Amino acid sequence: MDTVAYQSRRIVSGMRPTGQLHLGHYHGVLKNWIKLQHEFDCFFFVADWHALTTHYEDSRVIEDSVWEMVIDWLAAGIEPSSASLFLQSRVPEHAELHLLLSMITPLSWLERVPTYKDQQEKLKEKDLSTYGFLGYPLLQSADILIYRAGQVPVGEDQVVHVELTREVARRFNHIYGREADFEEKAEAAVKKMGKKNAKLYNHLRKAYQEQGDAEALQTARELLKNQQSLALGDMERLFGFLEGGGKVILPEPKALLTPAPKMPGLDGQKMSKSYGNTISLRESDQSVAEKIKRMPTDPNRVRRTDPGDPDICPVWQLHEVYSDDDQKQWVQQGCRSAGIGCLDCKGPLIDSVIGELKPIRERADDFSRHPEDVRRIIDDGSAAAREVAQETLSEVRAAMGLAYK
Ligand code: TRP
Ligand code: SF4
Repeated sequence: MDTVAYQSRRIVSGMRPTGQLHLGHYHGVLKNWIKLQHEFDCFFFVADWHALTTHYEDSRVIEDSVWEMVIDWLAAGIEPSSASLFLQSRVPEHAELHLLLSMITPLSWLERVPTYKDQQEKLKEKDLSTYGFLGYPLLQSADILIYRAGQVPVGEDQVVHVELTREVARRFNHIYGREADFEEKAEAAVKKMGKKNAKLYNHLRKAYQEQGDAEALQTARELLKNQQSLALGDMERLFGFLEGGGKVILPEPKALLTPAPKMPGLDGQKMSKSYGNTISLRESDQSVAEKIKRMPTDPNRVRRTDPGDPDICPVWQLHEVYSDDDQKQWVQQGCRSAGIGCLDCKGPLIDSVIGELKPIRERADDFSRHPEDVRRIIDDGSAAAREVAQETLSEVRAAMGLAYK
């Protein structure tokens, strides 16, 4: 069942605080967040409990990473006036929803999430046969569902977690989405759309439910999406009513795949801390220059006079990210004809990266000098997030019959 989530203006995404951010985070994630913050209601958070699932033995390292990461976000251009920035652990509602969802989540759903076994294999030195680690994707589901987010910007590796979130939401709505007076409330909501729309809705609903007319279903959904004046609760009822289900309490989110290409690292593999091929967001000019100068090039280009092949050179991949067409032309032509040397080729890249990082480093230095500002931004963001989270949770409790009076 497709539900109201896709028309929700809310976006949620989190990042685990596990060390310094680098250009891979910047090009792969942050630039996308910076764009989205102006287009949607964005909730960006530090997933400190998720870090704990793998760092429970050295949990003290998390704190520093939390604050450094927030500084990196701010320095990169995330604006607290446009997005709510917060810490997961400052919104304990995530934990309550996680617990409630755990009651209805079959173990097998978690065991078959591919990242579960993959990460255990990859992080052999850690004992990840814990309850918390198995629950990692369910905690992520709670992170998303508690804001009833429509979209979740994530990388490819996280799409399976968003899929699980959809399944859990569907199961929750199926079990708990049946209010005693659902039909009456739904019918009252139909009337609120006005005579013409109500008639159309009823007609389309009938066509779908009695003849399985998929096109009618689609048209009816479009119709609902355009009912700006309907309250969210009524909207959720009408989406559910349309398909013969109950009320949609936790709408199903969609993954919003990050459009940016994978940022190449210094060795041509994807930039990642575990490959040791990164340039950090706060790297000094001198260190940027040294790292790029030391980059391997086309291995067949031994002497300056040997022509090279950019297709097998990691430096060329950086030009693809940083250089305009003229400059790329200059590299292609100069390399293949041995007209330029590799150091010449690297020069403009060094300038581009230094130019890109300079304002980021300066803003980061500013925030580092004013930690109280950073704390305040997180306090405010956490309070704003909490308000939304509490609202969802009280509906969840009521739907489950836990709102004891
Ligand atoms: N698991 C995500 C990652 O490793 C981080 C994360 C936690 C997240 N909760 C989330 C991302 C909720 C999106 C939405 O990148
Ligand atoms: Fe690589 Fe540039 Fe050297 Fe060609 S000239 S091998 S693209 S660094």
